[in-house]
Amino acid sequence: MNNKLQCIVTDGQGIDNLALVEKPEPAALSDNDVLVEVKAVSLNYRDLLVAKGLYGGAYDPPIIACSDMSGTVLEVGKKVTSLRAADKVINSPFRSWLTGKMDSRIIRTFVGGLGVDGVLIKKLVYPASALVKMPEHLSFEEGSTLTIAGLTAWAAVMTHGKVQPGEWVLVHGTGGVSIFGAQIAKMAGAKVILTTSSDQKAELVKEKLGIKHIVDYRNEDWPKQVRDITDGAGVDVVVEIAGGETLARSIKACNYSARIGIIGILDDTYSKFKLFDVITKQITLRGIFMESTAELNALARFSEKHQLHPWIDKVFTLEKTVEAYKYLESQKHIGKVLIGL
Ligand SMILES: NC(=O)c1ccc[n+]([C@@H]2O[C@H](COP(=O)([O-])OP(=O)(O)OC[C@H]3O[C@@H](n4cnc5c(N)ncnc54)[C@H](OP(=O)(O)O)[C@@H]3O)[C@@H](O)[C@H]2O)c1
Repeated sequence: MNNKLQCIVTDGQGIDNLALVEKPEPAALSDNDVLVEVKAVSLNYRDLLVAKGLYGGAYDPPIIACSDMSGTVLEVGKKVTSLRAADKVINSPFRSWLTGKMDSRIIRTFVGGLGVDGVLIKKLVYPASALVKMPEHLSFEEGSTLTIAGLTAWAAVMTHGKVQPGEWVLVHGTGGVSIFGAQIAKMAGAKVILTTSSDQKAELVKEKLGIKHIVDYRNEDWPKQVRDITDGAGVDVVVEIAGGETLARSIKACNYSARIGIIGILDDTYSKFKLFDVITKQITLRGIFMESTAELNALARFSEKHQLHPWIDKVFTLEKTVEAYKYLESQKHIGKVLIGL
């Protein structure tokens, strides 16, 4: 065993520029930090943007890629009391968003982009306060998916969506955030409508998650279909990962007092919709940028209680990271794409 650690770095100049390099083993641990042996890293749409320089630009020198990991604690700093060696942990996407509101300092601690090193490295030093005990029933692969996809869906459906049993939740597509959104909503006692562009994925989601109501978002009339499914009322919570025209249509599919979590821009960054609909239906539009460590912990405990198993599509090796990114980019997946270490 040499004293170098393998990791993947990105310079923001394209997916093909992702490189497997070696970094020195970390020096002595600071008092409040933890050394983690990383076991699995899950990919997010954002990692594609970072690799292409569309998320904070190009990086010189390159940064370590990705933001979500699970692993085993190897060593803890002198002042750490919350964790001990051999604990299984997952990381919060922000190194210093403990709880409460985001601010301009916290946002700069988002790992794996904006010039901050990420987690795709064999051993990671992380603040103890930004690590959460991994749900006991999950594999390392499953656990690693909670950091961004799980937490973002949790924020939209539970933290800010405040979904109630019996309410309707609308999720778009079959990617990481949306599949989590559907699972969490169902476990919270809500009814789910999912949109997808793929008949084959629709069948798989029906079969595996028991979601009965699935519509095709390529059909522009889908808001009417959603209103019909809900007996004319519309949906109460939207996990809005597409933006653009999709957001405008989601608003048309809403019930009175609906809560829309604005998460992604897969359709477009700009959206034109009738403010009159938002006003008269008293709809809340809430930007979601993941959430705090406290909310990640709440999601982890909810997952244990409800035995939530994240949907893993495919696991790649570290050496096949470029392939993994390209597979994610192809949007052939359902749920999550991972790197196993
Ligand atoms: N704000 C935050 O905190 C946050 C956190 C995580 C992700 N995001 C954003 O959320 C979005 C989704 O992320 P992800 O990681 O879940 O992505 P992903 O796993 O790559 O999911 C992509 C899926 O979205 C669906 N989709 C694509 N274009 C669509 C459209 N125009 N309308 C409806 N659905 C569409 C497709 O599903 P089908 O194949 O079934 O059609 C596609 O497979 C991205 O924009 C990402 O940047 C934001």
